[in-house]
Amino acid sequence: MRKVVALLASPRKKHTYEATRQFLDNVQACGQVECELVVLSDYQVGMCRGCKVCFEKGEEYCPLKDDRDVLIDKMMRADGVVFACPNYSFQVCALMKVFLDRLGFVFHRPRFFGKVFTALVTQGIYGGEKIVNYLDFVGNGFGFTTVKGRCFTAFEPMTEQEKQQRDQALTQLSQRFYRKLVKPEFPVPTFFKLMGFRMGRTSIRLELDETSRDYTYYRDLGWFDSDYYYPTRVGFIKRSLGKLFDTIQTRQTRNRKKSQSMPNRCV
Ligand SMILES: Cc1cc2nc3c(=O)[nH]c(=O)nc-3n(C[C@H](O)[C@H](O)[C@H](O)COP(=O)(O)O)c2cc1C
Repeated sequence: MRKVVALLASPRKKHTYEATRQFLDNVQACGQVECELVVLSDYQVGMCRGCKVCFEKGEEYCPLKDDRDVLIDKMMRADGVVFACPNYSFQVCALMKVFLDRLGFVFHRPRFFGKVFTALVTQGIYGGEKIVNYLDFVGNGFGFTTVKGRCFTAFEPMTEQEKQQRDQALTQLSQRFYRKLVKPEFPVPTFFKLMGFRMGRTSIRLELDETSRDYTYYRDLGWFDSDYYYPTRVGFIKRSLGKLFDTIQTRQTRNRKKSQSMPNRCV
């Protein structure tokens, strides 16, 4: 039995809700899947205060005591996660952005490896494709295996043809999502993902220390010595490139530290 949770960030139960509901019903019809539709507006999620305590000390020290961890827990327990939101002023709606800001520390300490992710965006006219790309980027940054999301135009009233196109697109997306859901993946990293991991972890190792949560997170997961976030087949070329990225970052960090320790000269 696989579990899917969809986080819906719309203040009303209309187009985004309907698309999400239909997507989940389609996935459920594919096989043994249990789905949950979580309406974000039913939960208390406060606006980030920007203190960066989550980055530095750890997320449990966040001064806001609300439902953030209930929602993270739902995502952690699921095999698949969907972020669904309407296009508001050419971006994700505020409800979604408030939620994502509270999860900002997950970009520092990704944790959703082996889980599948997709995004559903609805719009009136234009701008939703960029939002889909943004949410896909967020999914990747959190560690998910991302199935490229879809944007649905829901100009009111929708014609029969538009409804058919939406239903067809939802069917295709749910089938792609289901295929990944039943076959968890730990894909070989792309060049850019490998570079991001190796340079990021080298910088964390050299710049931070035990007082930093990012440092202890990486250290405890063995990421200072691993090829990538998780065991995967990294061939000879990527292994060599990985070492090169470590070396480049080591030099950059040393040069930065050197220039920081030099006294400022007045000209
Ligand atoms: C405040 C606000 C801003 C919006 N901005 C855009 C926009 O920039 N581009 C667009 O195509 N649609 C825009 N829309 C339309 C919604 O994206 C569209 O109606 C969407 O399907 C609403 O989803 P819902 O039915 O789940 O609320 C906006 C709607 C609202 C309420």
